[in-house]
Order: sequence, then structure tokens, then C-alpha cells
Amino acid sequence: MPSLIHAPWHPASWQERPARQQPEYPDPVAVERVLAELSSLPPLVTAWEIERLKTMLAEAAAGRRFVLQGGDCAERFEECRPDLIADRLKILLQMSLALVYGLRLPVVRIGRFAGQYAKPRSSPTETRGGLTLPSYRGDLVNRPGFSVPERTPDPKRLREAYTYSVLTLNYVRALTEGGFADLNHPENWNLDFARHDALADEYHRMVRAIRDAIDFMEVVTDAPLGDLERVEFFTSHEALHLRFEQAMTRFVHPQGRTYNLSTHFPWIGKRTAHPDEAHVEYARGLANPIGLKVGPDLSPSMLMDLIRILDPDEEPGRLTLIHRFGVEAIEACLPPLIDAVQRSGRTVLWMCDPMHGNTLTTDLGIKTRHFEHIVGELERAFDIHGAMGSRLGGVHFELTGENVTECLGGARGLEETDLERAYKSVVDPRLNNEQALEMALRIVRKRRR
Ligand code: PEP
Ligand code: CO
Repeated sequence: MPSLIHAPWHPASWQERPARQQPEYPDPVAVERVLAELSSLPPLVTAWEIERLKTMLAEAAAGRRFVLQGGDCAERFEECRPDLIADRLKILLQMSLALVYGLRLPVVRIGRFAGQYAKPRSSPTETRGGLTLPSYRGDLVNRPGFSVPERTPDPKRLREAYTYSVLTLNYVRALTEGGFADLNHPENWNLDFARHDALADEYHRMVRAIRDAIDFMEVVTDAPLGDLERVEFFTSHEALHLRFEQAMTRFVHPQGRTYNLSTHFPWIGKRTAHPDEAHVEYARGLANPIGLKVGPDLSPSMLMDLIRILDPDEEPGRLTLIHRFGVEAIEACLPPLIDAVQRSGRTVLWMCDPMHGNTLTTDLGIKTRHFEHIVGELERAFDIHGAMGSRLGGVHFELTGENVTECLGGARGLEETDLERAYKSVVDPRLNNEQALEMALRIVRKRRR
């Protein structure tokens, strides 16, 4: 076991540990000033909402719910626009409707939004034509353009990220509370552009079946079904930039616990999931539910160390393991981890991220993912959990409501030559709206078999 684990936790105790993936700012005094301001501003979410999500995640771990987590790889400040936010909600609502219908389970919706602004990078610097600059680390830190001013970490962006998160979450709350998400009117969520016909037909048949079921129940019970007008959305982001996260960490008196109040569900990325390092130390003292990305290099004994550190009290809903191995590796990597957790007698929520192990680079140097690899990893995940008496309780996607061309394949059969047409992501390739809906329908077909 790591040596410092019994030292007391506080929101800054991570500073005693090695912290990977942190930006170096040229003006540390300016950083402190911004962080001091941030720590005095109102939080984005409440402890009550967070506790409610934790209860739902515990129910998902027990097989009574299913979790859909999705959104951008890297949110951009310039994409904090009403149309883009609404379109992302629409596709998540459509997917969740398909999952509710097909799995016959309530779906918990978690967006990768309102704070997904920090990115881990495989190299701290990037070199082009003899010039070496800091890597782009997400809009929280710097800008993607390749020049000294754009790549220099700028503390003002911490304050801007807070503001854009607030603006995004405010609009999401207004839409989801105010009738937009009304299950009686799924036509609100139709996306404008032309749809692939077969996919649209399947989706609309399903929506009609749901409408019929609602009508049927209302006739039988002689009363409107309750609470169809609003849905709940929760937020998540990678808790990567630790000084920023610390500034959003607050002790909440009624609960008597400390929460990160910038998001409901922070997760620890694959590159920072080390038992004796800073990110794990920071997360272990929070009362939020925590997501842990689990990749091919994590051994069963290291996973068990992480579980004991992050969930010392075996609190229901506390820990979600988000595995991301790639379609080739999942069959070798996943069973030993399921086995280790089962032998420990612990309960975790297992979720599959079929995106991050399936990234490839085309001959032209474009980062992409193939739809069939994504579906393939997901199907194997369901099969492996099922065969071992475990349960896959959720899925995690990078997606957008826009009609981008970043991932290959899908019903429209996007090819490498299509990629440059509408490739917008500055980090990882996302499923477009049609591919995302098709993904949900494929999960449903698989489960019904
Ligand atoms: C991500 O989710 O965007 C990410 C970087 O994932 P991972 O840590 O699993 O590589
Ligand atoms: Co990503």
C-alpha cells in the first residue's frame, strides 16, 4: 500500500504528491489571484444533487438503472452557443429514450459538459517545423493555435472556464426544466438536417411505440402519467487541473462533508490514475461519486489498491470503473479485473468507454475511430460481464449533436475521404448525431437478443 495513505486528507493534501499533467504558468502570482477569486464564487451544483446522483449510481450498480454519459472530448469556449448546447442535449435525450425503451430500465443521464475544459496530453510539448511549444491542454489552460501567445498557459482562462461552465449549465437547466425535454413531445428533439432514412424510421417507430404506451397507461389509470415534462441531467468532467478543482472544493455543513461543487461527477483520467499520486489523493477525500478510467496497463492489484483508497467505506454509488481497452484488448484485459473485484466482495459500477482504446491515425495523419470498433468493444463488454456474472451498468461516449465527420463508418458509411469535410474536434474524434443514435439502437438490439 502507498505509504502516505493514512495521512489526513484536506483539499490541498494532493500537493504533497507528484502531480502529472499540470500546466506551468509564467506568472504564478496571477494564478493565485484568480484561484482566490474562484474559491469565493458560488458553486455550480449542490451537495443534494450530488448525493442524489450517488444514490442513482448505486442503483445502477445493483442493476436497477442504466447510465448514459456523453459529450465532447474537449469543450470549447467558442462553442458555448445555444444551438450547439441544445443539439447536444437532443442527441443525449434521443439516445436515452432508445435505451429506456430497449433496456426497460430508467436511464441516468450524465453530460461531459459545463466544465470539460482540461485535457491530458501524451507529450508536454509539440514541435512543428523546428519550433517547440507547450501542448494544447484544453481551453482551461491555453489555445489550440500554434504560436507562443496561443500556447502559453493563461490564468485568465481559469476564470473564463468558470463563466462558460455557468452559462452552459444555466441553459441546460432551463431547457431540461422548462418543457424542452417533455416526453410527451419528443419532436422537440428532432435535429434539423437530413437524417439517414433507415435510422430515422427505426427511431420514429420507437417514439410512436412509447407514445402509445403512455396513452395506454393514461387511459388505464385514468390520469396523466406524472413527471414526464422534465428530465434530470448531471454533469461530469475530468478532474485534471488540480488547483482549479481545489478552488471549487467546499465543505458543506448540512452534509458535514467536502465536495467538488463544480460538477456532480468528477473522473480520474487514465494518465493520472496512480495510487500514490496527486489526482487520486485529491479525489479520495471528496464526497462526490468518482469515476476512474481503467486502461490496459492497470493490473488487478493496482486496481484493488485504487478501489481501497478511493472507496474506503464501501459507500454505495461511490466508485464507477470506466474501462477503455480497445476492441482488440478487452478480452484479455477485462476478465482479470472483474475477477479481482468479485473476489474482494465489493460492489462497483462498471461502465464501458469504447472510444479511447479505439483511436487510430489515418495515412494522412488524421485522428479517427471506426464505428464498428466502438460497437465491437461495447458488445464484447456486455458479453464478458454477462458471462462472468457481472453487470455492465453504463456507457460513456464522445459525441456531438452536430453533423461532423470525425469517426469512420456508421449507417452512412463515412470513409477516410469524408473526414476532412466537417472535422471540428481539436482533440479526440466524436460520434456525430446519427452515429450516436445508431450506437444507442445497436445497444438496444444487442440487449434484446
Ligand atoms: C477522455 O475521456 O477524454 C480521456 C482523455 O480519456 P482517458 O483518460 O481514458 O484516456
Ligand atoms: Co477524449
